[in-house]
Amino acid sequence: MKILILNGPNLNLLGTREPEQYGHTSLADVEALCRATATPLGLEVHFVQSNHEGELIDQIHAYGLLCQQGKAVGAVFNPGAFTHTSVALHDAIKGTGLPVIETHISNVFAREAFRHHSYVSPVAVGVMAGLGIQGYALAIQALAHRASHKVGA
Ligand code: DQA
Repeated sequence: MKILILNGPNLNLLGTREPEQYGHTSLADVEALCRATATPLGLEVHFVQSNHEGELIDQIHAYGLLCQQGKAVGAVFNPGAFTHTSVALHDAIKGTGLPVIETHISNVFAREAFRHHSYVSPVAVGVMAGLGIQGYALAIQALAHRASHKVGA
């Protein structure tokens, strides 16, 4: 079984970007954590970062299909700033039925008001925010648990 770990714009800058918000760990550290968490659960990680909305949509479409075929458990998705702007990501998740756990490193609700609204949350199975990169590990565990209990199947 596969799992998609999808990262949106500016997350390639993790480690150097606003460390007071996002910490000092790099995206490579996030990938290592995800692999260390997913592998013992029998999940094959597809780890992607893109600054382009269309590429994120294409990944959602591909994994939506894999989930329908029973070959993937879903996606851990940090949409970055597209969280707060993108109807297209909302529609992609809704249209494919891909199980998504929206994941934010920072607590978006403790930040500027424009970060309080998410277009992704209404179509996500769950949301992680403010737990740092550990949120990715917890989201992977939740998707694995959900799949093994056939929630929504
Ligand atoms: C973020 C929060 C977003 O508001 C922001 O635009 C990001 C990162 C997070 O992981 O905390 O790029 O998704």
